[in-house]
Amino acid sequence: MSAPIAIDSSAKASQKAVESTMLSPRFYTTDFAAMDRLDVSALRSEWDTMMAEYEGDNNHDHFQRTPEFAHEVAERFSQVSPEMRQEFLEFLISSLTSEFSGCILYNEIFKNVENPDIKQLMRYMARDESRHASFINQSLKDFGLGIDLGDLKRTKAYTYFKPKYIFYATYLSEKIGYARYITIYRQLEKNPDKRFHPIFKWFERWCNDEFRHGESFALIMRANPHLLRGANVYWIRFFLLAVYATMYVRDHTRPMLHHEMGLESTSYDYTVFRITNEITKQVFPVSLDIDSPAFRDGLARLFHIQTQMDAAKAQGGVWGALRRAGWAAAGLATFVRLYLQPVQHHALPAQVRMAPAW
Ligand SMILES: [Fe+2]
Ligand SMILES: [Fe+2]
Repeated sequence: MSAPIAIDSSAKASQKAVESTMLSPRFYTTDFAAMDRLDVSALRSEWDTMMAEYEGDNNHDHFQRTPEFAHEVAERFSQVSPEMRQEFLEFLISSLTSEFSGCILYNEIFKNVENPDIKQLMRYMARDESRHASFINQSLKDFGLGIDLGDLKRTKAYTYFKPKYIFYATYLSEKIGYARYITIYRQLEKNPDKRFHPIFKWFERWCNDEFRHGESFALIMRANPHLLRGANVYWIRFFLLAVYATMYVRDHTRPMLHHEMGLESTSYDYTVFRITNEITKQVFPVSLDIDSPAFRDGLARLFHIQTQMDAAKAQGGVWGALRRAGWAAAGLATFVRLYLQPVQHHALPAQVRMAPAW
């Protein structure tokens, strides 16, 4: 990878959170009037059950640090290498940015719609994401690297997505977020000596929030089935691939982080893909064939291309720019080839909701 800026001050942590690259989490805005017109009445009873769960707020007291927290950071985290420390800080910053991205989007939808179902849902999800973002930020503050979230909200670029793209992308990021956190949690539950920072102890109940957020989008899409048919299936394939490929490339830039947990980036990612593929059958009529050699080769090639692009960027100058353009074209061609791979088709289950059983 390119030599990343060393994150050794709050300003640099904020700079990292603000940056817009192919791999960094984005902030979104959407068509609020269209959100306002959504109708979930086709799945009223499932919806009401879910709202009751949000109302019950079983994670109300979860995001509080215990007195041992700081002690464990001092004891255990101080032993990791400086490179590993940087990877972990980058992980915290990108996790914080994506938690806060959800918080802003849900809060903006909440403020801009009248539709009582959507308004209530967005209020609950913004509540959860705000807790998640603040909890991560406390861990950054331990290192003097706290991010000013108000400032981040004002300065980071926003990407406009039509509501249906928000549903595909956000549903997937909530579910893959669940799969990522639960996989890490289970690994460290079995290997507590590998738990190099106490924040991972919070992941189990935390990811149940993400799972429920995903369920909400699943219900919205299943209540509006035109979103899951016809040409929209091509968009679903696109978002599945974009989300999986981004995660794969991003994770492979942080191999030490997984190694420190006793994981290996490729097998960790495929475990996460497998869980996500199982879950998304509740709503998407297609899933990616993650075990086909062409798929695996394609993702590995995307990561290789990313490292070459970073090297060309570091080289700079005209030749660096030309090489970068060449690798960007190769990246696009690889993505298109991956997109054209056969996918698996399945019928949607009568029962939409699932339990977070992993
Ligand atoms: Fe979250
Ligand atoms: Fe979430």
